[in-house]
Amino acid sequence: MTITSVDRTTARPRTDDALVLDGVRAVRGGRTIWSDGSLRVPTGAIVGVIGPNGAGKTTLFQLVLGLLPAAEGRIEVLGGSPRRGDRRIGYVPQNYRSAVSDAVRARDLVTLGLAGTRFGVRRISAADRARVDEALARVGATGYAEQRMSRLSGGQQQRVAIAQAIVDDAELLLLDEPLANLDLRHQHEVVELLGALREERPVTIMVVAHDLNPLLPVLTDAVYLLDGHPHHDRIDEVVQEDLLTHLYGTPIRVVRTPQGDLFTRGG
Ligand SMILES: Nc1ncnc2c1ncn2[C@@H]1O[C@H](COP(=O)(O)OP(=O)(O)OP(=O)(O)O)[C@@H](O)[C@H]1O
Ligand SMILES: [Mg+2]
Repeated sequence: MTITSVDRTTARPRTDDALVLDGVRAVRGGRTIWSDGSLRVPTGAIVGVIGPNGAGKTTLFQLVLGLLPAAEGRIEVLGGSPRRGDRRIGYVPQNYRSAVSDAVRARDLVTLGLAGTRFGVRRISAADRARVDEALARVGATGYAEQRMSRLSGGQQQRVAIAQAIVDDAELLLLDEPLANLDLRHQHEVVELLGALREERPVTIMVVAHDLNPLLPVLTDAVYLLDGHPHHDRIDEVVQEDLLTHLYGTPIRVVRTPQGDLFTRGG
């Protein structure tokens, strides 16, 4: 008798979507935060995640990370159910700067992004070290790799955070307000970095932001939380005065310069 083995990794159906929500409801502390979430985020998109404070943007990331179960509906992340510790997802939390010790060195934080090193269960190999060097180089942080986090500026810390998220070759990056507290130049640098990462390989990037303007040059899509429901659309469809005004509850104007640059402004 011949036994034919089936390679389940190649037999798995391929999907062009990095994230699928199907009738999802998010509940925290017994309260529905948002509901009826049905959307698809295509692989390779750079997605702005927008909505007012408390709308449930961070909650969406927690569902994707498998840290919070959906109260209703189905979630598919990179072709499977969300699971904690998925190495294919790189995450920079909203409170990253306050969550890391001032004394830790940039290089050591990036090393923590490598699977299996979190609890010191294995020694750092030369190959690990090379990957950390590469991640630091990709975000332009080589020059301060040996510095303690307390010695770095906000923009430098944000780059280290992104290096930690990409060091394990994440297929999906979840960045929760990576531009908060950055001056315009550092915002611009982080945005350029996101665009460059996407150019290198088909990573999908979801980035929470309150000010869309610095991100508009690289965003392809948006997920917006409106009236208690998440929606997805192409960025051009979302950057509309009516929609943004409704979303933020304050008048927003959309301006297009003769050069074709698009930006929003209040009032
Ligand atoms: N641990 C928790 N237990 C219960 N409710 C929570 C918890 N964390 C957050 N919430 C509630 O869930 C709702 C959504 O919070 P979430 O952090 O997802 O919002 P957000 O859109 O990320 O807001 P922000 O722009 O302020 O970061 C809020 O009303 C918040 O009070
Ligand atoms: Mg949040």
